[in-house]
Amino acid sequence: MSDGIAIRFARVDDLDFAHQDGYISDEMVKRKIELYAALNPDRIEEIVIAEWNGKRVGYVRLEYLWSVVPYIALIRVLPEYRQQGIGKALLRFIKTFLRDTGHEALYSSSQADEPEPQAWHRYMGFEECGFIVGINEGVGEVFFRKSLR
Ligand SMILES: CC(C)(COP(=O)(O)OP(=O)(O)OC[C@H]1O[C@@H](n2cnc3c(N)ncnc32)[C@H](O)[C@@H]1OP(=O)(O)O)[C@@H](O)C(=O)NCCC(=O)NCCS
Repeated sequence: MSDGIAIRFARVDDLDFAHQDGYISDEMVKRKIELYAALNPDRIEEIVIAEWNGKRVGYVRLEYLWSVVPYIALIRVLPEYRQQGIGKALLRFIKTFLRDTGHEALYSSSQADEPEPQAWHRYMGFEECGFIVGINEGVGEVFFRKSLR
């Protein structure tokens, strides 16, 4: 499938798509839309979109710990498009962007009771680097680190 994949930074009109997981409240999404619209509405560097033949099929939301250290808040590919290289293409795009902007490592995490995304992170070269107990309504969160060198 990889020939049809296009990866790009989000625009303001992608923001509903990139928050469809529901982890962030509508009010917070609205505030983010207003903020991004006032900055650069055509290149939102904290959100990356994957398209397959022009259809949006996945996204990454990046955040920065202490406003400094890049962290994948969420990477998500629509279920019917998984296992076809889209997650890998999203990761490649953000790795290049972060290297070009001077970062040495990328962090990410996964719920402790979700073995599939943990296995994906390890397969993609992330190494486990920590654990927060009980952060998701009683379930822990496993943290990962990937060198960008
Ligand atoms: C995790 C997720 C983003 C992976 O995306 P994807 O598009 O299915 O992954 P890819 O097809 O790009 O996989 C890249 C490689 O990892 C392998 N892989 C895919 N899923 C895997 C898994 N669960 N365990 C181990 N390897 C896996 C693929 O076989 C592929 O290998 P290859 O490069 O040798 O061909 C996707 O499964 C998803 O959206 N999950 C739900 C959301 C989630 O849990 N996100 C992570 C927490 S933030």
